[in-house]
Amino acid sequence: KTGRTEKVREFRKRLRIVDIKGGPDEGLDLLGQKVVVKGWVNDGSCLSNMQCVTNSDAEGYDQVESGFISTGASVWVEGTVVSSQGSKQKIELKVAKVITVGRSDPSFPIQKKRVSREFLRTKAHLRPRTNTFGAVARVRNALAYATHKFFQENGFIWVSSPIITASDCEGAGEQFCVTTLISSIEDGIKSATDPIPKTEDGLIDWSKDFFGKPAFLTVSGQLNAETYASALSDVYTFGPTFRAENSNTSRHLAEFWMIEPELAFADLNDDMACATAYLQYVVRYVLENCKEDMDFFNTWIEKGIIDRLSDVAEKDFVQLTYTDAIELLLRAKKKFEFPVKWGCDLQSEHERYITEDAFSGSPVIIRDYPKARLEIKAFYMRQNDDGKTVAAMDLLVPRIGELIGGSQREERLDHLEVRLDELKLNKESYWWYLDLRRFGSVPHAGFGLGFERLVQFATGIENIRDAIPFPRTPGSAEF
Ligand code: 4AD
Ligand code: MG
Repeated sequence: KTGRTEKVREFRKRLRIVDIKGGPDEGLDLLGQKVVVKGWVNDGSCLSNMQCVTNSDAEGYDQVESGFISTGASVWVEGTVVSSQGSKQKIELKVAKVITVGRSDPSFPIQKKRVSREFLRTKAHLRPRTNTFGAVARVRNALAYATHKFFQENGFIWVSSPIITASDCEGAGEQFCVTTLISSIEDGIKSATDPIPKTEDGLIDWSKDFFGKPAFLTVSGQLNAETYASALSDVYTFGPTFRAENSNTSRHLAEFWMIEPELAFADLNDDMACATAYLQYVVRYVLENCKEDMDFFNTWIEKGIIDRLSDVAEKDFVQLTYTDAIELLLRAKKKFEFPVKWGCDLQSEHERYITEDAFSGSPVIIRDYPKARLEIKAFYMRQNDDGKTVAAMDLLVPRIGELIGGSQREERLDHLEVRLDELKLNKESYWWYLDLRRFGSVPHAGFGLGFERLVQFATGIENIRDAIPFPRTPGSAEF
């Protein structure tokens, strides 16, 4: 039915699959041809459904008459392409034969009328059949493809970072523990509700555990990426990451995909340049390759998104230091709920003011954050010479806030050890990370981009739960 199908199915030579949508002529070249159409009645596979017209001459017409072919049913239709009398499409199918492959029960929850996205979240198994979720899935796919394309074209090596890990990259204590779930199969512990093996003094008996020590789902692949960047130079990860932060917001998920490039022989300026080039590249890619879907978002989801993204793809991003950002907030006429002073964490109201009011919609990169507390910036960030700030940067965009967080890494062994002590982190458990500073340490930098936030940014979808096929949030792991 679409250009996409033609490419993907080239290996299935049985049928010549053709593009009936995509240009101003909308398949006019097919007029008079016999075709087979397979699909679902009102599915999400493309934005323009093929209109199929039947009459009693058609083989299998009784199925139409008896109402078997209702919304949601899967059908196989054969016929001839003719010009359409309707105003919405130029061609339609004059049906010669119709076969219902799978009937759809009348309880099918997604009927032709518009339904809310809140409702569709409770039907995540069926929502890809709607226009919106079909379009989001295609743009998400295009963004993933463009991500690999950008990094591959720029000489980066893709590295798979582990999902199960014993280290906490961000040090924020937001890790899901996997250990007790699969621990001690001998003891018959197979589920979270089984009792945890205890030593005589009542502590957890890790010797009985599968990994022999606490293990968690990763919050970030960065530390692992650094090991490969310290061998192969520029690398990137692209995989799922997990955070047990109890944030019920439109921009937090418990399971999200992260893209984390790590650049060797690089400083914070190189890092910001990479983030900018990457973001502009993927935005340009979807504007050029997902035109029909972007028009759909422009009409139905966020008016003006195409102009907004075109600006992002072309114009330089604003850059300012954290110190300047604080100055700007202090001078703002707006009253903030959280008071602003140097050293405070930027809240989303502050980020919104900066991106939406102060710089009217441009992405903004804020750099050189206070090192003061771990809640603000993590242990691995390189200390600046002022002794007060670290070489970290966040890229903020309107509505969503932080899209990218990155930094130059502390490559000096002595500084890193002092920092771990200051933050009361267990140095022993970072022994392998410290080794990288012992054996041929180099200046290096990287960043992490939350892929679902990028999907939000590129489609205008308001809630992050609609930017991933099966969202995981507090209290919700259905499907
Ligand atoms: O700022 P964060 O926590 O940075 C890191 O994890 C670094 N180790 C990255 C690096 O330097 N390699 O997370 C990076 C990005 C954020 O900017 C945000 O886009 C996204 O990950 N993110 C989330 N996205 C959805 N749901 C959540 N709960 C997220 N937490 C972070
Ligand atoms: Mg961050």
